Amino acid sequence: MIELKNVSLRYNLNREILNNVSFAIEPGGFYYITGSSGAGKTSLLKLLFLSLKPSDGKVSVFGHDISKISNYKKQLLRRRIGFVFQDFRLLNHLTTYENIALPLRVRGEDEINYKKDVIELLKWVDLEHCIHSKPEVLSGGEKQRAAIARAVIGSPEIILADEPTGNVDPDIASRILKLFLELNKLGTSIVIATHDTAIIKQIKKPIIELKNGKIKIQK
Ligand SMILES: Nc1ncnc2c1ncn2[C@@H]1O[C@H](COP(=O)(O)OP(=O)(O)OP(=O)(O)O)[C@@H](O)[C@H]1O
Ligand SMILES: [Mg+2]
Repeated sequence: MIELKNVSLRYNLNREILNNVSFAIEPGGFYYITGSSGAGKTSLLKLLFLSLKPSDGKVSVFGHDISKISNYKKQLLRRRIGFVFQDFRLLNHLTTYENIALPLRVRGEDEINYKKDVIELLKWVDLEHCIHSKPEVLSGGEKQRAAIARAVIGSPEIILADEPTGNVDPDIASRILKLFLELNKLGTSIVIATHDTAIIKQIKKPIIELKNGKIKIQK
């Protein structure tokens, strides 16, 4: 589904964030990415999301070598991936409903065709009470769930989530994790970058651990 082959990543010459790393995200898989702050978790997710290019090596996404495709094709591939940003990136001038619907609006879909789905998803993440609220009045956990719903609305084949439980208490963290597990059971691949050892223990899945530019995979 997504494959890294001998991938290295440097932002500058003195440090390799990734040093000759290879692994594959399998269809229907569920993975955690761990590692200390600055280890490269967000950078690795950005590589998987086609928003960074490797310094060396090959990244293939849905069978396409990303160094060989146009920006337009990259955009199309990206639509098959949902991304939950560490800092949410909700748009302040839009309501929760509008933020969640945004990926579909950008694709030019007609609201008549998606309104019901957005409302259903709002219920699923327990945000019905926030439907008309702007992000500034949402709590941290509500923003996090809105960001997850926005990543899910386009029915992506894979969801990449950067610290999706980073701003919430353990109860909500556990609920968020269960949402991901439900999606995974429906066939969506999930990759979660996290520091949160409690959630890693709650649902046991393979762990990709980043350290000094290398990865160790614990199955
Ligand atoms: N655009 C950039 N230019 C230069 N250095 C960068 C850039 N983005 C990240 N870095 C550096 O790369 C390293 C890895 O950053 P990254 O954000 O991937 O770490 P992380 O594991 O996600 O950390 P955290 O747990 O704090 O979110 C850090 O040392 C960071 O300062
Ligand atoms: Mg990070």
